Amino acid sequence: MPEATFHFPTDFRWGTATAAHQVEGNNMNNDWWAWEQEEGRIKEGHRSGLACNWWERAEEDFDRAAELGQNAHRLSVEWSRIEPREGHFDDAALDRYRAILRALRERGIEPMVTLHHFTNPLWLAEMGGWENPRAVFFFERYVARVVEALGEFCDLWCTVNEPNVYVYMGYLAGVFPPGKKDFRAGMRAGRNLMRAHAVAYRRIHALQPGARVGFAHNLRIFDPANPRSPLDRWVAGLQDRSFNEAFLAAPTRGRWLFPLGWGFAWRLRRTLDWIGLNYYTRDLVAFDRHQPGAMFGRNFHAPDAEPLDGGYGELYPDGMERALKRLSYLGLPIYVTENGIPDADDDQRPRAIILHLHRLWRALQGCIPVMGYYHWTLVDNFEWAEGWTLRFGLIELDPETQARRYRPSAHLYRDICKGGAIAPEMIDRYAPDLRPVLLP
Ligand code: FCB
Repeated sequence: MPEATFHFPTDFRWGTATAAHQVEGNNMNNDWWAWEQEEGRIKEGHRSGLACNWWERAEEDFDRAAELGQNAHRLSVEWSRIEPREGHFDDAALDRYRAILRALRERGIEPMVTLHHFTNPLWLAEMGGWENPRAVFFFERYVARVVEALGEFCDLWCTVNEPNVYVYMGYLAGVFPPGKKDFRAGMRAGRNLMRAHAVAYRRIHALQPGARVGFAHNLRIFDPANPRSPLDRWVAGLQDRSFNEAFLAAPTRGRWLFPLGWGFAWRLRRTLDWIGLNYYTRDLVAFDRHQPGAMFGRNFHAPDAEPLDGGYGELYPDGMERALKRLSYLGLPIYVTENGIPDADDDQRPRAIILHLHRLWRALQGCIPVMGYYHWTLVDNFEWAEGWTLRFGLIELDPETQARRYRPSAHLYRDICKGGAIAPEMIDRYAPDLRPVLLP
């Protein structure tokens, strides 16, 4: 009997994902650049600097993506380049983005464009950022300009990246700008981001009727540390509802749920054509009455699980299938808009890729409509508050010399993308220890 090959649909989107500030370089006009200049904000004092130099030379990495068999790429446009001063739009920046999207198309790579990926123009930050309700209006105006300029090359739009992570890191943990620890301010910002999503959804459709618009949701799995403990179950459920469910209920059912708010969010209802899943890891959660600030939870990673670089979490591929099943109840097409691991020496990534894609394949067997997978990420890039300490790239980058080197994972992912399948030979070659697990 031939050994199992895990086939994916022929029209499946195989790609990688990036974000403007992490790859472009010299994004000096946004709140992240300012944040990087402050002492103690970024690990080891790292800065984004030239990043991957995509503003000048993205095309060279697009050649690599095409060579690696990718037919899709998710990237973001940088608001502070497009609108450097409030109400002043820079046509040269929009032209550069047109060239970038054209370059992707020429290589047979379909772009998905994210409109907000963590960074804000300095002028907006100075006006109170997303706490200011006017941010919604500003965002709509900026989005309209982008869609008018780039709509020729793109009809797949991701309004906002991970509003839950943005709020958590920027307003609760205080490790992303604006660096606050202020619950109420965070929820205001969260509501405005979700309103901005809805307003952008309508505006994009008015300008481009065939557009497909969604947002990228970071779905983290929260499991009770002791499943038999009612308190652990309660606190894991509370974290799950706050981090995961509240951000999904608003743009689908039109409901504000705690902690974003209470009651109806009529204008947000049904503002998704698809949902994006950013899946990375899971937490175990134990009840701890000494942690009111953390919703009475102590979060940690399963002690027997395989840890990831830099305390990033545990390798938990089953979470991919669980997250996809959960999102399937929304009745929307799903894109895996991000998934990957930090792994500088690439000793875990090949296995991680195979395992996560195998769980995705299983979801497809259950008729869950997963349309594509964007691996995070193509080339090592500036990892926010972790600086250059975490390396997520299929391709290794030396940010000083800009030299690139393919990691073995790049070739594994190439073989999967080109063949549209995970074949036994790939498992033997890149992750032989998985043979008994996947090919018994
Ligand atoms: C996600 C972010 C992305 C990248 C990965 C590792 O939360 O959206 O920009 O930093 O994590």
